[in-house]
Amino acid sequence: MPTGSDLRQKYLDFFKQRGHVVIPPAPLVPESDPSTLFTSSGMQPLIPFLLGEPHPQGRRLVNIQPSFRAQDLEEVGDNRHTTFFEMLGNWSLGDYFKAEQLAWFWEFLTSVLKLSPDRLYVTVFAGNDAVPKDTLSAGILQKIGLKKDHLFYYGVENNWWSRSGPPDQMPESEPGGPDSEVFYDFGADLGIHEKSGFKDQKCHPNCDCGRFLEIGNSVFMQYQKNADGTLGELPQKNVDFGGGLERTLAAVQNTPDIFRTDLFYPIIDLAEKAADKSYADPAFQPQFRVIADHLKASVMLASDGVFPSNKAQGYILRRLIRRSVVKMRKLISGPVTDFCGRMVVAAGNIYREVYLSDSQIRQAAEIISAEVDKFDHVLTRGLKEITRYPKLDGKIAFNLLQTYGFPWELTYEIATDLGQHINPADFQTEFARHQTLSRTASRGMFKGGLRDQSEITTKYHTATHLLHQALRSTLGDHVSQKGSNITSDRLRFDFSHDQKLNPQEIQAVENLVNQKISENLPVTRQEMAKDEALKTGALAFFAQKYPDVVSVYTIGSQNNWYSREICGGPHVSSTGEIGKIKIVKEESAGSGVRRIYAQIIK
Ligand code: ALA
Repeated sequence: MPTGSDLRQKYLDFFKQRGHVVIPPAPLVPESDPSTLFTSSGMQPLIPFLLGEPHPQGRRLVNIQPSFRAQDLEEVGDNRHTTFFEMLGNWSLGDYFKAEQLAWFWEFLTSVLKLSPDRLYVTVFAGNDAVPKDTLSAGILQKIGLKKDHLFYYGVENNWWSRSGPPDQMPESEPGGPDSEVFYDFGADLGIHEKSGFKDQKCHPNCDCGRFLEIGNSVFMQYQKNADGTLGELPQKNVDFGGGLERTLAAVQNTPDIFRTDLFYPIIDLAEKAADKSYADPAFQPQFRVIADHLKASVMLASDGVFPSNKAQGYILRRLIRRSVVKMRKLISGPVTDFCGRMVVAAGNIYREVYLSDSQIRQAAEIISAEVDKFDHVLTRGLKEITRYPKLDGKIAFNLLQTYGFPWELTYEIATDLGQHINPADFQTEFARHQTLSRTASRGMFKGGLRDQSEITTKYHTATHLLHQALRSTLGDHVSQKGSNITSDRLRFDFSHDQKLNPQEIQAVENLVNQKISENLPVTRQEMAKDEALKTGALAFFAQKYPDVVSVYTIGSQNNWYSREICGGPHVSSTGEIGKIKIVKEESAGSGVRRIYAQIIK
C-alpha cells in the first residue's frame, strides 16, 4: 500500500514529467506578509506571480507545502479535519488552463493512484450574475471519463475560491476564481451518512457527514476584485491547484479516517499503548485525533521558530499545546509531561528527513515540554481559583479561560461534579462577544486592501535590504540576517551582533539608509543560477533552501552596487520611493542576536 512518502514522490514526478519545476516550500510563518499569521495554502507565497510578475522558475510550478489553518482548530476531532496538513500544489502562471489541469489530475488519480472512477465525484461552478456557469469544465470532465451522474454544480459557497472566500468578501485586488473540486466516495454501504448528524438530509458530495472526502481543488484563477467591488480579469489566466496529501492518502488506502494513515497513526498507536485505551472506542476517538493533529502542528510551528506566547502565532501554538494536554488528561490520569514528550517525538518522526532534522525535533520537544509544564501549573492554579466562587456560571468560566487559560471543558465538568450546572450557551455568548471583537481587530489587517498593503510592505521590504547593508557597513561583515518581519506599520529585523548598539551607531545606520534612499538608487532584478548568484556576492540566508535558479535584487548599478541579495521580492524600482526611515527601537532578540524596529516616516 502506498505510504505518505510514496504519494509525495508520485505527485511531484507526475507534474515534473509534464514540464513543472519543483519549487521549495515556504516557511509556515510567512516572512513578509502581514495580512496573515500562517502559510495556509501553496499559492500564498505565489501571489505576486499569479498577479503577473514573472516567476524565475517559469510558468509551470509544483510543490508540497506544509500548511496550517488555525480556523479549523475547533473542527478537529472528526475523521478528516486537521489544522496542519501538506498541500499538493501545481500551478500554471498564465500557461495551461482547464483542459490540461482537469485531465492531468484525473489521470493522476485514476492511472497513477489507481482510484476507481466509480468512487470519484467532481463539482464545478454553477454560475452567477458576474461569472458564467462552467460548462467548459463540465464538458472536459465528461470527455475524460467522469460519470454523468457524478458531476455536480454548486454556487459561490462551494465552487469559488479566494483567500477570503466568495467574491463579496474579497478585498480590493484579491485574486480568485471558480473552482472544480474532486471528492472521493467511501461508499453508501459503510452507512457513514446514516450514522451522522446529517442523516435527515439528502447526501451529496458537499454533505458534511464524512462519506465524501474532498481531495483536490483546481482553482481557475482568472479574476481580481476591482476597487468598485466588481470582478475584473487578471492579466493572465492561472491554475491554482491544491490537494490534501493526508486525504488523498486516505482515499488511496481506502480508509474513511485520515488518522488511520501512516501520517497520523504512529502517534495514536503510541498513545493507545501508553494510555491503555483503544482508538476504536468512539468515546476516545476525538481525544486521540486532537492529540495527533495538534502535536504535529505544534512540532512544525515550534521547529519553524514559534514560541508559545499570548500573541499572534505564539498564542495559537499555546492553544494547540494546551488543548492537547486537556485531551491527554482525558486519556490518562495524573501528570502528562512524560506522555506528551513521547507523543511529540512520534509526531516529529513522521516528518524526519522530509521537513525536520533530529535537532529540530529535539528543539521542538523542549519548547513544547516547557509549555506543558507551565500549563500543569495553570491547571493547578485554576483548580484552586475555582473554589473561591460559590457558584460557577458562563461568565466566570470565560474569565477563567481568559485570565488563567483554564479550559472551559474543565470548568464545566467541575461545576457538574459540584452539583452546579453552567449553561454552555452563556459561556458561548461571552466567547462569541470576544470573538467578534478580535475579528473586528483582525479585519483591520486588510483595511487598505491588498494593493495599499503591498505598496507599503514593498517599501519596507526594500528598506530592509538597505538596513541590512547599512548595519554591515557600520558594524562589520559579521552582521547577517537572522529574521525579518514586516507589517504595514514597521519593519523588524534580527541580525547577528553580540552587543547593544550605542546611540551613535544607531544614528549612523539610520543616516546611511536615508542617504541611500536620497541617492534614489535603481533596484533591479535578475534571474541566475544559485551558485552564480552566490559568486557575485549576493547575500543569502537559507542557501540550502533556495531553488537552483533564483531572483537576485541589486540596489545600485550593476558595477557599483550597494546591496545585493537573493530574495523573492517584490521591491520598489528605485530607493527614492521609500521616503525616509527612522529606527524606533533596538533590543536583544536572544543571545548574540539584536533586533531593530524601523518605520517609514514619510
Ligand atoms: N488555493 C486553493 C485551496 O487552498 C487550491 O484550496
